[in-house]
Amino acid sequence: MLQLKNVNLILEGEQGKKQILKDINLTLEDKRIYVMTGPNGGGKSSIAKTIMGIYPPTSGQIILNGEDISALGVTERARLGIGYAFQQPPRFKGIKVKDMLKLAAGEDSNLNICDLLYDVGLCSQDYLEREIDASFSGGELKRVEIASILARKLKVALFDEPEAGIDLWSFQSLTETFENLNRKYNTTIVIISHQERILRLAHQVIVIADGMVKEITTPHKFLGEIEKMESDCLCKNNCTFIGGKIDAQCDR
Ligand SMILES: Nc1ncnc2c1ncn2[C@@H]1O[C@H](COP(=O)(O)OP(=O)(O)O)[C@@H](O)[C@H]1O
Ligand SMILES: [Mg+2]
Repeated sequence: MLQLKNVNLILEGEQGKKQILKDINLTLEDKRIYVMTGPNGGGKSSIAKTIMGIYPPTSGQIILNGEDISALGVTERARLGIGYAFQQPPRFKGIKVKDMLKLAAGEDSNLNICDLLYDVGLCSQDYLEREIDASFSGGELKRVEIASILARKLKVALFDEPEAGIDLWSFQSLTETFENLNRKYNTTIVIISHQERILRLAHQVIVIADGMVKEITTPHKFLGEIEKMESDCLCKNNCTFIGGKIDAQCDR
């Protein structure tokens, strides 16, 4: 379980100091998929970077399975099993795709890196020997980075707008990959996304705006489906919409 307690983040911007995150409180349980969404500039990537240790919180605590990790740096947090796939991944020049994935997988020799590339919609034969250089498109780079996070058996995996630069075809396999990752390991998955398909994977949707948690809700509620059913429902029992079905007590 990962907890953020009263996390505040102040960063030095072009116009001086700015409060980016305001009193964030979140509890992220093991084995759950969370989707963080909300307007651009709301603070989603900053929350992910604060969890990863890229931005140390100005105040507040980050607690992983009862251990306060607020003061730890990126490397130590990575060692504890936290991984972050950047919204705009950096290019690690001069490293081959297969070496980057092997490095990420560590001693896990059972891991098939060809399968990993397949999961993110890349044909492994074309990519294994390629160096990650300027010839990589943004979409290709992003997929290799997602694969490198999938290679690690993480406690907390953060994916920042994984859909960017990915075609619809690969997107379908990527959503299945997230579900498999969730089923196989106890990984807490946090996906920052605006995509309906990804929102539907979530156990909980966390809406972030103005540096604050605005709402924690279900995908159905977020997508406006309950409201729609309630307005369709004539029995006035306050029916909720669970797994696509109307409550049993509904006598509409
Ligand atoms: N390193 C930084 N220095 C100064 N301001 C930043 C930095 N990173 C993000 N911000 C600002 O923090 C706010 C939230 O950004 P971000 O977390 O990227 O939002 P989101 O991912 O929801 O689009 C924005 O106003 C952005 O300009
Ligand atoms: Mg962002």
